[in-house]
Amino acid sequence: MPVKPFYVMKVLERAREIEKKGRKVIHFEIGEPDLPVPEKVKEAARKVIGNIELRYTESAGIYPLREKIAEYYGKTYGVSVKPQQVIITPGSSPGLLALLKVVSELIGTISYPDPGYPCYKNMLSFLNLPGERIPVSPEESFKLRPESVKTEALIVNSPSNPTGTVYRKEELRRLSEKAFLISDEVYHGLTYRGRAASALEVTDNAAVAGSFSKFFLMTGWRLGFLIVPEELVPHITAILQNTVISASTASQHAALACFEEDVLEELAANVEIFRKRRDFMLKGLKEIGFKVPVEPEGAFYIYADVSGFTEDSFEFSFRLLEETGVAVTPGRDFGYNGTDRFVRFSYCTSLKNIEEGLERLCKLLR
Ligand SMILES: Cc1ncc(COP(=O)(O)O)c(C=O)c1O
Repeated sequence: MPVKPFYVMKVLERAREIEKKGRKVIHFEIGEPDLPVPEKVKEAARKVIGNIELRYTESAGIYPLREKIAEYYGKTYGVSVKPQQVIITPGSSPGLLALLKVVSELIGTISYPDPGYPCYKNMLSFLNLPGERIPVSPEESFKLRPESVKTEALIVNSPSNPTGTVYRKEELRRLSEKAFLISDEVYHGLTYRGRAASALEVTDNAAVAGSFSKFFLMTGWRLGFLIVPEELVPHITAILQNTVISASTASQHAALACFEEDVLEELAANVEIFRKRRDFMLKGLKEIGFKVPVEPEGAFYIYADVSGFTEDSFEFSFRLLEETGVAVTPGRDFGYNGTDRFVRFSYCTSLKNIEEGLERLCKLLR
């Protein structure tokens, strides 16, 4: 089965055409942070490029970065991770792909939430793996319930894209009793009610996918990581050797600076910026008549019910773009379960743009 492109790409394409004609588009569809990467990390990158020849690295990544990530998980979550369990990948995406392949071969069938991050379904279909969709509902805060898990492995994404749902430690524990957890923790660090729990706090029978793209703001540096039980490491690195070879050498060396105390503090301070944007956007959307059944506790998205305005959120997304110049992601990108009633707003843009976007929506919809 061919892999499907995201529907939001059609929105983005149309937004670019509108922009070419000179109209300002407010981008609420984009899922990448707009804040600048800390200067120390950029400086480290400049030094690396100037001072060393950039060769391939080992497929699992440079050892000092594996050590830093193991240490960071140890400090943040109070868990014991060996550097040998950490695999550096070019963004979390190829790591997830390799992980899904290996888990399905060694552990069994994988379930994933619907609505959820679209790549889970698409990666499984690309790998020709069955995969099982588990509907999650607003009544249950879009959380997976242990009773619904019937497969050997399960993808949990907390904080979640698109709903911003954050699982409590106890909820992760109960899920871990049902299946091997593939825990997508790429939005960790971006939470608004205390830190998110890692799957590794409740079980060793889990694999974590992490990223430098969200909290660390480094989308284009293409850097992520996996933390997996040691016995999975050779299987995963074999796939990486044959596909991506290694993550960017420059990015890996520069990322060592991410773990310096002052850099981590600077990044943690960004959470307040995102919190202000979330609060402002939530209030504004509700005033206009959008329903937000579950208040997002993490990531940078608001998953809003548009059934007060339309029965087809896909068509509605294009109408908003044409009539107001506001771009949003249609729910359809995130699965089949009630997704035609929802759109996703991202607040990866300035408060000023959020205000302008909300005003435009208000004029059309109220
Ligand atoms: C839930 C989730 N997982 C994984 C990724 C992949 O990110 P990256 O490959 O940049 O680490 C994304 C990107 O938006 C995401 O939303």
